[in-house]
Amino acid sequence: MQTLPFSADTPWLAPLAGYSDLPFRILCRENGAACCTTEMVSAKGLFYKSPGTWPLLQTVAGDAPLIVQLFGSEACYLKYAVVELRKKGFEYFDLNIGCSVPKVMRQGAGAGMLRDPENILVCAKAMLDEAGLGKVGFKLRTGIDSGHSVIPDLPLRLQELGAGWITLHPRFANQSFRGEADWSLLKSLAEKLSIPLVGSGDLLTAALGVRCIQETGVATVMYARGALAKPSIFLDHKRLVRGEPVYEMTSGELKALLLRHLRLAREWTRGKNPEKRIRGLLAAHVHSLPNAKNLRADLCRDDAEAIETILDRWIP
Ligand SMILES: Cc1cc2nc3c(=O)[nH]c(=O)nc-3n(C[C@H](O)[C@H](O)[C@H](O)COP(=O)(O)O)c2cc1C
Repeated sequence: MQTLPFSADTPWLAPLAGYSDLPFRILCRENGAACCTTEMVSAKGLFYKSPGTWPLLQTVAGDAPLIVQLFGSEACYLKYAVVELRKKGFEYFDLNIGCSVPKVMRQGAGAGMLRDPENILVCAKAMLDEAGLGKVGFKLRTGIDSGHSVIPDLPLRLQELGAGWITLHPRFANQSFRGEADWSLLKSLAEKLSIPLVGSGDLLTAALGVRCIQETGVATVMYARGALAKPSIFLDHKRLVRGEPVYEMTSGELKALLLRHLRLAREWTRGKNPEKRIRGLLAAHVHSLPNAKNLRADLCRDDAEAIETILDRWIP
């Protein structure tokens, strides 16, 4: 049993649908991530044994501490999911109350849950009853829109129910990723909560992550788009916390990282066509290279050549 790390030098990997699979989590852990979250997993999908659901839960012994992120809006399914997952050995859970993708919100799940805070509390209680106090976190946005902020009331009520931690991406659902994340809300909420607050939102570099902790007092931060662009962002974060400068990888080191991700994907990606899936993931990591545009275009072409051939062409 491992406890979750909540300190300035323990940066987390955020839940990233389509990205935070086992190979990417292993890569991020090798590059300093102290805690990882799965892609979001449908509680209903687990109940109805939807074929795409269990593969999202693939893990190995070194993939710890790990938080399973669930989405759904009905307490009965969330409860069932926690019971089944605990039988398989999963210990920590998170409820997605922040996904603003219309397909998810239309089901009343993700940020759609923010329309009915009372139901969030019912779902939270169902999950906590099964998982145990402190074993469930809740990842929120600020509210549905600027007329309906749930901060600080909802997190305070979740804390009262026994939540282990709160994560806040301080944007409204109707903003999606537009505008700026309002870090001042992280600060005011961190002051009010006695459980750890994890910061999310516009943490595109390690310097921003460390600044967010210093300016707001959150316990730690989770990297999302920043980790996709640079999986070694976690090592940068730890260096900055120690007062050392960020390390800029040489193109050779970046190539080694891309090949490592490729090898992990070939080893661990289940389901259809791991080669096709990894191309998009690798393309996300190469922005710092002078030839990034050409490299991306070659990786994403349908009749793509072997990935190694493409990497050799653009990263000699
Ligand atoms: C591609 C992508 C997939 C995401 N998937 C999820 C998800 O499954 N669950 C979730 O709670 N948030 C998800 N998020 C939101 C992130 O976890 C994070 O809160 C958000 O990107 C803000 O952080 P950033 O601005 O530093 O990227 C996703 C974001 C991106 C870009």
